[in-house]
Amino acid sequence: MSGSTAPAPRGLDGVVAAATRMSHVDGLAGQLIIGGYELKELAGRVSFEETAHLLWRGHLPNADELAMMRTEMATLRRLPSEALSVIRAAAKAPPIDALRMACATLSLDLSAPDAISPAADLAAAKMLTARFPTIVAAHARVSRGDNPIAPREDLGLAANFLYMVHGEAPDPIVARALDTYWVTVIDHGMNASTFAARVIASTRSDAVSAVTGAIGALKGPLHGGAPGPVLDMLVEINTADRAEAWLKKEMQEGRRIMGFGHRVYKVRDPRADVLARVAEEMSGAALHDRALFDLARAVEQTALRVLEESKPGRNLKTNVEFYTALVLQSLGLAPRSFVAMFACGRVAGWCAHVIEQHAEDHLIRPQSEYVGPRGLVVDRSR
Ligand code: ACO
Repeated sequence: MSGSTAPAPRGLDGVVAAATRMSHVDGLAGQLIIGGYELKELAGRVSFEETAHLLWRGHLPNADELAMMRTEMATLRRLPSEALSVIRAAAKAPPIDALRMACATLSLDLSAPDAISPAADLAAAKMLTARFPTIVAAHARVSRGDNPIAPREDLGLAANFLYMVHGEAPDPIVARALDTYWVTVIDHGMNASTFAARVIASTRSDAVSAVTGAIGALKGPLHGGAPGPVLDMLVEINTADRAEAWLKKEMQEGRRIMGFGHRVYKVRDPRADVLARVAEEMSGAALHDRALFDLARAVEQTALRVLEESKPGRNLKTNVEFYTALVLQSLGLAPRSFVAMFACGRVAGWCAHVIEQHAEDHLIRPQSEYVGPRGLVVDRSR
């Protein structure tokens, strides 16, 4: 570190690392703005493709723009053979790892894979966002010994994903639930995976490389890997009367309660509200286990109380992952695929940040504080 530079806070807490038009998180007001709109204005009212257009092009599409984009992205859904080979080779790997490996192959059929112009970035954004669901669906099938199902161009992105997993076109309520989930997680300020994507893009590296790195950052349980464990927790707790003892034991043994706490939000994550409503709609539509939803509501209340008692003043509130678990489970998806499902929504945000970072064209290169020894001498006799 150079002489007068003060070390940044641990984990870059509170450091503003980029100026962005994509999204804003107000952790005290519990507000998430995406491309100028509050999340509650978008969720359930505009589709995932429309929200992606908002981030990539700066405005919600008109009817012609949307139709054109949908048609273009629908034709991009089919995977090249290299990606399918990787998915088959990774049949036993966790879905998020298979997605990372297959994603890395997606530059192979780009005409100029290293191009970083706005047009090339937009083309990569459409291709990656169109193909992520195809990868996750194909992997879900090969991992259980079935053949992948080719995408259909006549279905929306979410409906087509569910068709490719289950082999039949879904009820529109189910497709809408997934679409709303993807809108809800499309972008979220300078989270770890978005930052990773921007760091990679800042070296003038390409969109596929940036997104491949972002998947690696998303995978960890402190970022996108929590909803699987949330479901495990609900299954273990089983009945609401067992929640308090179970949660207290976890806390006493030094474990974290999954689906609670957030680096930025000190109030309830606004995405949790949107997804709680979606989960309730699904349970009301008799497509889902109402008892699980009621259990989740009860566990949430108990967890909030136990967390406040054990960690007073830390403001550990419900985060996006808690109700994500319920929504994704109600779509008939396996918990091991939940983080890959998150990536299918967030990829549109990562691509938007890559476009923005390439336009910014400034290398992100912080310094480090050296805390190791100095003046050591090599002992050749050791
Ligand atoms: N359960 C129990 N204790 C917790 C939890 C939790 N979920 N979250 C934080 N704490 C405690 C910490 O142990 C720490 O206690 P201490 O001060 O006595 O040491 C204190 O609260 C502050 O914790 P930090 O680690 O400083 O909080 P940070 O902002 O770094 O962590 C995080 C945020 C990683 C999300 C954390 O709350 C957590 O691990 N939650 C559980 C995992 C989870 O739900 N992840 C999904 C996050 S949402 C997303 O990224 C999309």
